[in-house]
Amino acid sequence: MLSAATRVAMRPSFTASRAFVSTWSNVPQGPPDAILGVTEAFKRDTNPNKMNLGVGAYRDDNGKPYVLNSVQKAEKVLLDQNLDKEYAGITGVPSFIEAAGRLAYGDDSALLNDKRVAITQSISGTGALRIGAAFLDSFYPHAKKVYVPNPTWGNHLPIFKHSGLEIEKYTYFDKNTNGLNINGMLEDIKAAPKNSVILLHACAHNPTGVDPTQQQWDEISQVVKDRDHFVFFDMAYQGFASGDCTRDAYALRKFAQEGHQLVLSQSFAKNMGLYGERVGSFSVVCADAEEKARVESQLKILIRPMYSNPPIHGARLVSTVLNTPELKQEWLEEVKFMADRIITMRTKLRNHLEQDFGSKKNWEHITNQIGMFCFSGLTPEQVDKLKDDWHVYLTRDGRISMAGISSGNVKYLAEAIHNVTKD
Ligand SMILES: Cc1ncc(COP(=O)(O)O)c(C=O)c1O
Repeated sequence: MLSAATRVAMRPSFTASRAFVSTWSNVPQGPPDAILGVTEAFKRDTNPNKMNLGVGAYRDDNGKPYVLNSVQKAEKVLLDQNLDKEYAGITGVPSFIEAAGRLAYGDDSALLNDKRVAITQSISGTGALRIGAAFLDSFYPHAKKVYVPNPTWGNHLPIFKHSGLEIEKYTYFDKNTNGLNINGMLEDIKAAPKNSVILLHACAHNPTGVDPTQQQWDEISQVVKDRDHFVFFDMAYQGFASGDCTRDAYALRKFAQEGHQLVLSQSFAKNMGLYGERVGSFSVVCADAEEKARVESQLKILIRPMYSNPPIHGARLVSTVLNTPELKQEWLEEVKFMADRIITMRTKLRNHLEQDFGSKKNWEHITNQIGMFCFSGLTPEQVDKLKDDWHVYLTRDGRISMAGISSGNVKYLAEAIHNVTKD
């Protein structure tokens, strides 16, 4: 029997004479995530005037994260119910998926009434996109190429690529007007091979803050139909664009009514302030209830090895808010309140730039754009100057998260933007 001391001495040691070569020595350092990298740099800055306009998370007028009152009340309801913590089924909490579907497709949706929508809970919007990408990769019978707007949310590209799909871009943003290039968009969608998958941001386009008008949506719908394309709606901001969840669902419901084949990714991160709870849904519009059952069975088979089943708390919160009339009413008002605060900041920022600092540049797009973001038109060099000289942090594409602006710092921001753009 060896003594304890001898056993310790015999253990392989990293400092042994033969050089230790780690299995991971060939792993290269990856670049930081563009948005989270901004937050890291912001955190390191000690200047009291610093502003983080990178991350797309709502802040109140004191710059603080905001837990909605309706959600806090739902937390109390859940606590009093003393619920167990058993696993949910693979597709999640049933009362949640029913309510999420109704919020997206409409209370009186014929598709839902006819049991034509296969729907599953997801790990927020990102997880919904990931399930959707995997589902298309497995079952979409035509070319597995997804057309995304140029530009689009940075994560769309890796999400689809990781699932084996190819990405192509369609024209979206017009740099000259800082608005929508509708003709370019329609042309590109027309030119895509028949049966292509077209990803559309349902509302509050990220990063541009530029949405089609209802009339333009109708035109897009027609072109998509003429070309037999398939639509992947990403709805991460329902309610955040106009303050009205019904209005923001216009495109989705229009396409659904017009008989388009479509899938939907839905997130409750922004509109219910449930970022870290990771609650969302993925749904597939099917031909009938029998097809829905087949699709649902395959969604379960895809999800089971990914994460088995989703977390329950966030879904229970959403379900409680949406299924309790007083809480739902309060929530709808809170969504409007958040959207309105952002709209007010747009007006103030533009007014300060034009009136207080006399900027001669055209800032109309600040108030024309919609939702959480303003695609400011600032160049990467101007963004760098904002950071270095003014301690204002945003992504180098010039995207400003409007939710990071408050009554207390909007004038400072206008001064900073005026200074870096005036020459
Ligand atoms: C366009 C778009 N889609 C999806 C998401 C997914 O967000 P989450 O996974 O937090 O729900 C976001 C978040 O920023 C987004 O902007």
